[in-house]
Amino acid sequence: MGLLDGKVAVITGAGSGMGKASVDVFVREGATVVAVDITGRQDDTAAEVGAGVRPVQCDVSKEAEVEAMIATAVDEFGRLDILMNVAGIADALLMSEMTMEHYDRILDVDLRGVVLGMKYGIQAMQKTGGGSIINFSSVGGMNGAGWTGAYTMAKHAVIGATKVAAIENGEHGIRINAICPGFIVTGMSAGAEDLPGIPEKSVFNRVGQAHEVAEVAAFVASDRASFMTGAIIPVDGGWTAKLA
Ligand SMILES: NC(=O)c1ccc[n+]([C@@H]2O[C@H](COP(=O)([O-])OP(=O)(O)OC[C@H]3O[C@@H](n4cnc5c(N)ncnc54)[C@H](O)[C@@H]3O)[C@@H](O)[C@H]2O)c1
Repeated sequence: MGLLDGKVAVITGAGSGMGKASVDVFVREGATVVAVDITGRQDDTAAEVGAGVRPVQCDVSKEAEVEAMIATAVDEFGRLDILMNVAGIADALLMSEMTMEHYDRILDVDLRGVVLGMKYGIQAMQKTGGGSIINFSSVGGMNGAGWTGAYTMAKHAVIGATKVAAIENGEHGIRINAICPGFIVTGMSAGAEDLPGIPEKSVFNRVGQAHEVAEVAAFVASDRASFMTGAIIPVDGGWTAKLA
């Protein structure tokens, strides 16, 4: 018996990092997964994980592509039970040097992508009586860090959007939560895990691994988390629990 037996899930950002790890864990737990990425690497994820994965190429910032991504799950597998909005990008720029190109590029993926996913995911789930959506924010959605203005704004807004959508959809049986990873070794963070001070952000004095976040996501996505919605869940090795 898997935690997600019979569930149909869409996972974005599935070509790398925590999205890819989530595809692996969700299939192990019995889900059928539509694995989504902009790069084509979703095909590699599908080949590696094997049966139970349907790769789809999609830019989550493009409304028509997001609508089609959700339609793939519904048309091919009959329903949508779980949506994981994992896709994201990060870049650094001082607020005093912010360009609107930089701002648009980050916000388009990290916020607009989540909003579009929720719009079409909620519509599909309302037709079948419920589901579970998990949005990926960050420790940067709970606190600030210099140089990360656009990313930090987007990740804070994801938390607000999660709360609003959770409130609006309780009556439809749709649970909507946000996960806030700490420092996790992925494509996004590659090379930074050995920098001075980075492992020490966690009380375990180490960085996190993608599957350690995916395992939490599988529980939050499952019916075992039936009374959990509107929750903001750090998976950060204790980073946000500390004063410094
Ligand atoms: N790695 C960390 O330390 C960390 C910490 C906090 C939050 N996060 C968040 O977790 C999520 C996953 O990050 P990760 O570390 O696994 O990153 P990653 O770079 O390893 O994977 C992100 C994936 O998203 C895809 N992607 C980017 N833009 C896209 C688009 N427009 N449409 C579809 N797919 C797109 C990329 O191709 C990539 O495969 C992100 O939202 C990120 O902001 C990461």
